[in-house]
Amino acid sequence: MCGIFGIANKNKFLLSDVINSLKRLEYRGYDSWGIATNDDIMEKKVGEIPVNSNLGDGNAKVAISHTRWATHGGVTQANAHPHSDCTGNLFVVHNGIIENYLEMKDLLTQKGHKFLSETDTEVIAHFIEEKLNESKSPDEALQEFMKNSRGTFAVLAVRKGDNNVYAAKRDSPLVLGILDGGYAIASDIYAFSDKTNRAVWFENDEYAVINSSGFRIFDSDGKHVNRDARTFEWKEETQGHYYDHYMNKEIHEVPDVAKRLLVSLQREQKMQLEQLAGMVRKAGKIIFVAVGSSYHASLLGTFFLHKAGIDVQTIIASEFRDYTFVDEDTLILAISQSGETMDVIEALKTAKQRGARIASIVNVPYSTVQRMSELSIQILAGQEICVAATKSFINQVMLLIALAAELGYRQDYDKIPEELQRLFDFEDEVKKLARKLADSKDIYIIGRGMSYPVSREIALKLKEISYVHAEGMMGGELKHGTIALIEEGTPVIGLVDNEEIISNMKEVEARGAEVISISDCPTEFGGMQLPVGSEASFALGASMIGHLLSYYIAKERGLPIDKPRNLAKSVTVK
Ligand code: F6R
Repeated sequence: MCGIFGIANKNKFLLSDVINSLKRLEYRGYDSWGIATNDDIMEKKVGEIPVNSNLGDGNAKVAISHTRWATHGGVTQANAHPHSDCTGNLFVVHNGIIENYLEMKDLLTQKGHKFLSETDTEVIAHFIEEKLNESKSPDEALQEFMKNSRGTFAVLAVRKGDNNVYAAKRDSPLVLGILDGGYAIASDIYAFSDKTNRAVWFENDEYAVINSSGFRIFDSDGKHVNRDARTFEWKEETQGHYYDHYMNKEIHEVPDVAKRLLVSLQREQKMQLEQLAGMVRKAGKIIFVAVGSSYHASLLGTFFLHKAGIDVQTIIASEFRDYTFVDEDTLILAISQSGETMDVIEALKTAKQRGARIASIVNVPYSTVQRMSELSIQILAGQEICVAATKSFINQVMLLIALAAELGYRQDYDKIPEELQRLFDFEDEVKKLARKLADSKDIYIIGRGMSYPVSREIALKLKEISYVHAEGMMGGELKHGTIALIEEGTPVIGLVDNEEIISNMKEVEARGAEVISISDCPTEFGGMQLPVGSEASFALGASMIGHLLSYYIAKERGLPIDKPRNLAKSVTVK
């Protein structure tokens, strides 16, 4: 949520280059964008970052920029970042939430500061200005800001005529990239992974002063911290084929990235997989923690691990504190594509305090969740740009199938990537179904056992990408209430991998529903029979068909598929 990008360079750079790097963070929010330099340029606008910004070259060697996902204050130009102090000489961009901003704003207003926006961020600029007015140095101003503020932040600041970028971090992600001739500093490595593979990650309550010749990191008391750069590996899939949306491209990458993961689990990540299985065997209690699609993956993981005789439960991260009992004997298995989801990070903090062990399954290397874990395995889905999780979801589930297999679940999962590839033969049928369902007000998806998490995953995609109200439900629960909503023609998709679901489909058919089946065997209903060889393969195949269906419905409806309204890919607020 919100992406920040800054640069300190030996040579002048094109402002459009800064905007291009910022654009790589647009999946973190796209309500408004802005840029400021140490050379008196400040520009901010509502809407998406333009492909061609027309900002000219400028003379700056230092710049900061921001792409916003609104939290405090509406989507307006005044609320767009950067925010400045009263003099207009200092600019800040921020990802996170300053929880005590109203208190700070009151104090600063009493001292004569004038606020122009409704944001929490603006207090940072005025607070620093106030400290500089008291003859404090920028370092001291940052230290005091960190002591006086509550909440989360990754902040960048620049001042006119000053060649430094100032940065501070608590809980929101911040990473420094080492460039030829300077440094980039950003919310995550995507922003600069086309320019460097060397980076320095910040820890909480640290601040830094960065210019083109070096960087210095300090703790909140101003004590210098030594931190070495690390080399990271990050796969950006090249486009061998033209796709009109990233979502479509990313779904079509599924077989390749699934194969890449399986190979890695047999080679480079073999030891980690065995270690994770060892941790699972030893733990007194195992709890998955995740949100959104990653939670649906964890539900499937629960199913597969139960098949291997392992008792495990899963909990949505934001409810972790109140709905789990955690002690030293507990293993927490966090699942997160970004590794930066604040709800997951908060749950891990609680678990750590209670003495639990932590392992994780992530996509983005060196992410906060990975760094909080004793052991972490990467799903190797590569960069996922569409806000909706597709290939990353499939690879999370693939990894959980492999983990369950390591623990005794018998499935021939090596063939899954090829089986998934063959399912693209159904693409025309999916398009036809999408045309039929495009005007639906509600769609119900029902499953039982293994298909239940798949039904929830498909429903989530129909809501977020196709803007259709959808419910993914346990087939057995229908008759306990929801069946009252079934009318003549209501679409109900049944995921058929067991006989009991057929009775639930008959129940809704008897009440006029338009029943569509996605199955691994012949059924009496219209729909698609997927040629898959195992239950694990059906779970993945039906999910992939569901992802395609939501994509084509959204396309029929002319929606902004890769950037659906109100959403962001990396949810770094509670
Ligand atoms: C759905 C989707 C979200 C994410 C959720 C978790 O398509 O993308 O529901 O799955 O925000 O994000 P991560 O996995 O990064 O923790």
